[in-house]
Formats: sequence, structure tokens, C-alpha cells
Amino acid sequence: MIAYLQCINKTCQEKFPITTKTYHCSKCKALLDVNYNFAKIDAQELKTRFRERRNSFVPIDQSGVWRFRELIPFLTDEQHIITLFEGNTPLYDAPKSAAYAGLKKLLLKHQGLNPTGSFKDNGMTTGIAQALALGAKAVACASTGNTSASMAAYAARAGMLAAVFIPSGQIAYGKLSQSLDYGAKTLQIDGDFDTAMQLVLELSQESDLYLLNSINPFRLEGQKTIAFELLEQCAWQVPDRLVIPGGNLGNSSAIGKGLAEAYQLGLIDRMPKMHIIQAEGANPLARMWAQGEREKLLAVEKATTLATAIKIGHPVSWQKALRALDWCKGGGCHQVSEQEIADAKAIIGSDGIGCEPASAVTLAGIRNLVNDGIIDKEEKIVAILTGNLLKDPDYTVNYHLDSLYQKSQTKTEIIDQQNKIVAHFANQPIQVSAEKTVIKQVLGL
Ligand code: F0G
Repeated sequence: MIAYLQCINKTCQEKFPITTKTYHCSKCKALLDVNYNFAKIDAQELKTRFRERRNSFVPIDQSGVWRFRELIPFLTDEQHIITLFEGNTPLYDAPKSAAYAGLKKLLLKHQGLNPTGSFKDNGMTTGIAQALALGAKAVACASTGNTSASMAAYAARAGMLAAVFIPSGQIAYGKLSQSLDYGAKTLQIDGDFDTAMQLVLELSQESDLYLLNSINPFRLEGQKTIAFELLEQCAWQVPDRLVIPGGNLGNSSAIGKGLAEAYQLGLIDRMPKMHIIQAEGANPLARMWAQGEREKLLAVEKATTLATAIKIGHPVSWQKALRALDWCKGGGCHQVSEQEIADAKAIIGSDGIGCEPASAVTLAGIRNLVNDGIIDKEEKIVAILTGNLLKDPDYTVNYHLDSLYQKSQTKTEIIDQQNKIVAHFANQPIQVSAEKTVIKQVLGL
């Protein structure tokens, strides 16, 4: 058997057939990996094959995930692949962001340029493939908005029922609109993401719902390919550090696994360092890291941040994320403030790139690490931007109107005028009369 499920607990490591519909080890309750008995590979030949697929018109070759299928070989039937041509995201040079952080150069891998506007698409194509392989008719997830948008799209194309559980009033409108438009049954739960997550986990154990949160290891297999594509874009020269936002901690876990496998298989000759960045009001892993706690999750009971994508206090994949930090030694997990996130987001925008708030924790974190002397300005740094600028226009417009408040509870209504974020890089719209002379004056023509 080439692929199997395996418990991540080092003292257990129980294996299960790939066809088992489970999200935890039945012996010790730890999370599961999809692992493989990889045959010895010819790394150079494989790299050439990956690259040649870019010129192919075969759909699975055009997918930025399935293009790397030799490294995610869990499917026995390619008919189960539903692709929206996910992945294939650009690696941008971002000079203004680099200067802001105090770096000579900074590269931004923009996963927000995926078909539904976030990195979730990389994992959803593999998650849905496994759902089809298992014969599932309905899929479900709890979400801060991007997982639900992505799952809704892929489920629609697979002809499956999609049930999404979202914290009522706490997800950005761009994301909510996607899940509605793609036809998902959209359940607005009276509670936060952590409540919704617990609920959907229990429901998927009691019913036929197939769970497509990142607790599902097949999701992470797709997200693993973010590392492969990034390495390919760097001509397989490993960057010094990768910087990744942390919420439920699936993505950092997946990228870490991808890097570790690339290293084991001889596709790269060293591991980069990894930094995971969280918002200070949703900082369970950052707290653990700072306190040297590695065994017990220091959950945050009421997570708060305007970066709603990462407003998570009980991240499911914290053990896998710690493992990734261990594999990518020399990094760590850090937190940034709401003010730092907002300003960093505007700077990424000023590079003509833009992202949603959760993605901007990366630049904010890098800037702090440079200031603290942990990152040297000459190092080659890659930040993963996880979501598209257009996902959360309220945040962006409020920032530029200089009316963004840390304590606002919903995205459209400011209920607390305290703790205003100072828009240091505001680009205010200008109200002008429809007269050429006035406009010329304003534009300095
Ligand atoms: N950035 C964005 C834009 C996200 O949507 C998420 C997670 C993250 C970062 C954090 O990634 O959870 O793998 O650590 N969004 C999930 C969702 C939770 O439901 O859409 P993570």
C-alpha cells in the first residue's frame, strides 16, 4: 500500500487504511497524517516533469496542485479530481514592503490569487477528491469564511451538498457572498469559530457529513504543494525563512510537511526557517512559544481580531504546527498588534499587490523580527499571503477613511469608538465637483 493514514503521536504512530473515514487516531485521539511509502525518486527527473506540465492542456496538469501528483499519491482513481486550476499563484517581488520591513528584498507568494481567492483551494481540491473517493454525498466545514467559500465552490462542481457553519456576523462579506452564490447551505451559528468547529466535528462523527476542515489530513496534502510550487519558483534554492499567518494552524502544518518531504526526497538540500504569525488577540501558539509550553494548548477563550480569518482561540492543528516549527528549526511563533496588521496591509497594497488583513500579519511580523535583530536585512524571506484584498473591503475602506476601530464587533457596524487604529498610510478618497478646473487643480495638472 503506497498511502496510509498515520497517527502523529510519536509514541503511537498507529496506521489506518486510507479509506478510513476518521479525523483522529482511534487509539490515542491524536491527529492523523497521510503518509506514503515513496519509492526512490530521481529528483531531477521529477522537477523536469513538474515543469513540463505547465505547458500541458490536460486539466490535472494545469492544476498547481495535481501538477505535483507524484508527491500526493493517495488517489487510486483520477476521475475523483475536481479542479478549478487552483495553485499556480505568483511569487512577487515587493520593494515597498521590503523597505517597510527593513529588508533588501522581500518575496510575497500570493495564495489569494487562487480561484476562490485564498489558499484553501489548494487543499479543497484534494479534500473533495478524497470525499468522492469515499463516496460522500455531503461535505461540511466550520469557517471564518475562506474555507467555506472554497468548499462551497468545489462541492458545487462535484455535485455534492455543502454545509457551512460560520460564526454569525463575524465573517467578511466577500466570503459570505461566495458561499451563498456557490449554493452552499450556509448556517450562521450563534457563537464564534471555535464553537462552530466543535459542533461540526461532532456532527460529522454522528452522521454522513464528510468534514473538510484542515483537521482532515487530505486537505493538508493539497496545501503541501504550496511549498513545492514556491520552491520551484525559487529554482529549488531554499529561501532562508518562510513567514506564514497562523489561525487554525493547518497551513503552516501543511507547508512544513511539504518542506520536510521535499528534503527527505532530495528535492532540496536544506530546510528553511519558519515563522508563524498570529494576531495578539488570537495568539494561542504565540503564547505557548513565548512561554516554552509545548505539551498543552494555551487556548484563548474569546479570540479577538479584526483579521477575522484568524480569529481562532482553539486551533485544531497546534501539534502539527509545532512539529513544523521543529522541522524548520530556528524560527518561531510570534504575535502582532491590530495597529501593526492594519499598517502592514496598507503597505502591501501600496506595492500594487494587496491582501486581506490576516495575510498582512506576515509583513508586520517580519518588520518586528528585523527590528529585533532576529532577521538580517540580507536574508531571503518569503511571506505567504493567504487571502485576496477583495475578500474584506469594509476593513480596507474603513482604514483609508481613518475609521477602523479595534473593538468593532461586526464588519459593517462600528459599535465601540474606543481603540481607534491610526491610519498611518491612509489614502483618502477626494470629493470633487464635476468641473475640469477643480479636478486639474486637485491632480496638479
Ligand atoms: N489567512 C487566511 C486568509 C485564512 O482564511 C486563514 C484561515 C488563515 C490565514 C489561517 O490559516 O487556519 O491554516 O492557520 N481561515 C480558516 C477559514 C480558518 O475557515 O477560512 P490556518
